[in-house]
Amino acid sequence: MRTVAIVPAAGSGRRLASRLGKPFVLLNGRPIASYTLKALNRSSAIDAIVIACEKRYMDRFRTLVKQYRLKKVIGIVIGGRTRRDSVKNCLDSIDGSYDIILIHDVARPLVSGDIIKRSVAAAKKFGACVTAVPETDTVKVRDGSMNVAKTLDRSLLFRAQTPQVFKMEIIRKAYNFKAAQGATDDSALAEAAGSKVKILVGSYRNIKITTKEDLKLAEVLL
Ligand code: CTP
Ligand code: MG
Repeated sequence: MRTVAIVPAAGSGRRLASRLGKPFVLLNGRPIASYTLKALNRSSAIDAIVIACEKRYMDRFRTLVKQYRLKKVIGIVIGGRTRRDSVKNCLDSIDGSYDIILIHDVARPLVSGDIIKRSVAAAKKFGACVTAVPETDTVKVRDGSMNVAKTLDRSLLFRAQTPQVFKMEIIRKAYNFKAAQGATDDSALAEAAGSKVKILVGSYRNIKITTKEDLKLAEVLL
């Protein structure tokens, strides 16, 4: 079975508020995107990589791919208004020669080879999988007046991360499913389309870089 990795990298990095553009912000002297893409490029579980980026960063991504010798990158496409649009543009550019699609945010540069390998294996076995970590805070649901409506049972809660990995027919069905407004990850689309998604326990190290604080944390964890 052949596996292609989709890397959504077309966000505007509004919360990080860096002039450089989030994928190019430096982590110990190297761009965030170089860590993320190298981890995928080096994995024996990955055969090819497709990136979605903003139009203005096309050339910078091409340069980065050359500089870091990311041989598995087969395409760089222009992203869309939302993450969902960006992933869809990647999916539309991929031909029928791949059986498994791994989706991994450029903003998670600390992903390990082990998680990549285990998540691809889980998708081959179960059809769809989401990496996630057990929730550590107690989570409240509010009512319309900002009073606590209920407290959720923490032992049942997981925080979804990426990679999220799917058999081709499952992810295509999920992305062609019109409903699921407000879905913020790929798994939610697959769930809405009626697919069963396996939870694979990932790692607390695999943080998403969203704010300046996350950058500091990532530098410590690297
Ligand atoms: N993403 C994308 N296309 C979009 C929006 C987001 O490809 N239109 C990608 C981002 O590049 C990132 C991932 O989706 O790798 C998760 O998004 P997030 O962490 O929210 O990053 P940004 O959208 O860039 O940041 P912000 O929301 O602060 O603007
Ligand atoms: Mg965003």
